[in-house]
Amino acid sequence: MTFNRSLKIAPSILSADFADFGREIRAIEDEGADWVHVDVMDGHFVPNLTFGPPAVKAFRKHVTTVMDVHLMISPVDSFIDAYADAGADILTAHLEAGPHIHRTLQAIRAAGMKAGVALNPGTPADAVADLLDMADLVCVMTVNPGFGGQKFIDMTAKVRKLRDMIGDREVHIEIDGGVDPATAPLVVAAGADVLVAGSAVFRCGSVDRPQVYGDNIRAIRAAAGG
Ligand code: DX5
Ligand code: ZN
Repeated sequence: MTFNRSLKIAPSILSADFADFGREIRAIEDEGADWVHVDVMDGHFVPNLTFGPPAVKAFRKHVTTVMDVHLMISPVDSFIDAYADAGADILTAHLEAGPHIHRTLQAIRAAGMKAGVALNPGTPADAVADLLDMADLVCVMTVNPGFGGQKFIDMTAKVRKLRDMIGDREVHIEIDGGVDPATAPLVVAAGADVLVAGSAVFRCGSVDRPQVYGDNIRAIRAAAGG
C-alpha cells in the first residue's frame, strides 16, 4: 500500500447480503470500490454482533484491493494476531475500547498491518494528538457505531481540526457513517480522503444488478469532487 490522499470509496459489507459475501465483494470491486470495509462487532462494545476472524479470513480470498477492518470490539489486543492471520491490511481499533490504545496501535503495526484509530462522535480530535506518529488512519465516526443506515452526525469541525493536526504525516482521515452524495462533499472539503459507505452503496442493487453499486459509488465520488 503506497500512501496518497486521493479520494477512496470503501463500501461497508455490513450492508451486503450476508449469505453471499464472496460475490458481493467481487461485485463492489468490479464496480469501482477502492477499499473493502469490514465491520467487526462484538455485542459488547456495540449493541450488535457481526463476524469474527474466520469469516474475515474467508472474505480475504475475494478482496483484491485493500481489506480495511474496523473493530468495534473490546478488548482488542488478544485478537490482533488473529486479524493479521485473517489478512487485514488495515486494522482499526476504537480509542474508547480500552485504557491502552497506544499499546494497541503498537501491537497492530508490530503484527504487520497498518494501524487505525477510530473516534466515536463524543470523542474530541485532541484525544489522538499523542498518537499521530503511530497511526496510519484516523476514522471519524459520523454515527454512533453499531448499525448501518443511521443519520449522519456532522463532524466537519473535528475533521478540519484533525487535518491541521496531521500536517504532512502519512495518515488517512476516514469517515464512517451516513455517507451519501449529500454528506460526502462536506467531509471531503474538511480534509477526509476515505469515505466508508454501506447503505448508500448497496441500496437498490444486488449481485445480479451490480451496475447499481457502480452508479451509487460514482454518485458519491462525483458529489465529493473526486
Ligand atoms: C457503523 C459501521 C459503518 C456502517 C456504515 O457502526 O461502522 O461502517 O456500516 O453504514 P452506513 O453507510 O449505512 O451508515
Ligand atoms: Zn465501519
